[in-house]
Amino acid sequence: MAHEPIGTLDFHNLGFSYTKTKWNYLSRWRDGKWDDGILRNEDTLTIACTSTCLHYGQEAFEGMKAYRRKDGKIQLFRPDENAKRLQRSCERLLMPPISVERFLQAVTAVVRANAEFVPPHDSGASLYIRPYVLGVGDNMGVRPAKEYLFGVVCTPVGAYFKGGLSPVNFIVTDLDRAAPNGTGQVKVGGNYGASLYPHEAAKEKGFADCIYLDPTTHTKIDEAGSANFFAITRTGKLVTPKSSSILPSITQMSIMEIARRNLGMETAEQDIFIDRLDDYAEAGACGTAAAISPIGGIEYHGKMHVFHSLTEVGPVTKRLYELLTGIQYGDVPAPEGWIFPVDESNSLK
Ligand SMILES: Cc1ncc(COP(=O)(O)O)c(C=O)c1O
Repeated sequence: MAHEPIGTLDFHNLGFSYTKTKWNYLSRWRDGKWDDGILRNEDTLTIACTSTCLHYGQEAFEGMKAYRRKDGKIQLFRPDENAKRLQRSCERLLMPPISVERFLQAVTAVVRANAEFVPPHDSGASLYIRPYVLGVGDNMGVRPAKEYLFGVVCTPVGAYFKGGLSPVNFIVTDLDRAAPNGTGQVKVGGNYGASLYPHEAAKEKGFADCIYLDPTTHTKIDEAGSANFFAITRTGKLVTPKSSSILPSITQMSIMEIARRNLGMETAEQDIFIDRLDDYAEAGACGTAAAISPIGGIEYHGKMHVFHSLTEVGPVTKRLYELLTGIQYGDVPAPEGWIFPVDESNSLK
C-alpha cells in the first residue's frame, strides 16, 4: 500500500482511520533475545498460520500520541507509562518484555521518520502510535510462542471533537469485557475482541459506547470499552472506579494529578454504584483517543440518567480537558517528566 502523499492529507478533517505513513519499526525476538530492529516501508507482516497471536490471543499493544507544539516541535506525553504498561501486558501473556529504553527508542524513531505526518498544532489532530507485540512462529498446542515480533506503526488522526467539546451518551451493557482476576488490567487483544459486540450493540442504539459494570457484582461502574470513567461528586471531588478488571489509564492518572495540582481538588479511587449516579454533578470518559469525552447521560435498565446536561459540557470537565490537552500540545506547563521531546534528526533509518 502506497502512503498518502502529504499534500493530499487534510489534517483538519481526519477521522480515526488508518492512513499509511512512510515508516514503521519491526524487531524480532528469537533464541532468547530481541534483534536491533529496523525501520521499514512495508506495512504488512508475513507470519506462520499457527502463530499464537492468531489462535490464542498472545498479543498485546499500546496506544499513544505525538503532538505538534506551537513552535513546530514534536512531543510525546508520558511515553514511559505506555512502556511500563506494555511490559505488564507482556508479562501477563508470557511474552518477552521490551525494555523502557528500547520502547522509547523505537517510538521516537518512528515519530521522527514520519515527522511530516504529525499534524499542525492548530488542527487539534495528532499522530496516533500503535506499538504491538505478537507471538509468532510454528506452534499448534496452547503454549507460549518461541518467537515474537515487536512493532510500532503510526497514523495521523483527527481531533476527536471538531468544533467544541460536546457530551456523548453511554448505555450500560449486561456483558463483561474482562473477568475479575482475568486480563482486564492489561492491554491485550482478547479484551477488545470481547468488547466488539457490546460496543456495536450500543452504537446501533445511538450511544457512543457501552459502560461495563464490575464483573463480580454488576453494581459498580468499571469502564467503557476503550476509556476509563470518572465523575465529579456534588461536593467537587474527582472520583474514578476502584476495580481489578479495568485498564489503568494514563489519561485518568494524569487528570487526577492535574485536578489536585492545578485545581486544588480532592481525588479518590472508589466504588461508583450504578444506582447512585445522583451523587455526581458531572461525568466523563477519558483515554488517549479523545482525551476527555464529557458524558451527557447513561442509560441503565431503560432509564436515562443525565449528569450536568445532554448538550453542554460541565465546568470542571471543561477545565480538566483544557489543562490536559494544553499540556499535551505544549501550551500549558507540564509536571516534571511528563513530556518527552522528539527531535527530528533520525539515527535508526
Ligand atoms: C479498555 C481501556 N480503558 C482505558 C483506556 C484509556 O487508557 P489511556 O488513557 O492510557 O489511553 C483505554 C485506551 O487505551 C482502553 O483501551
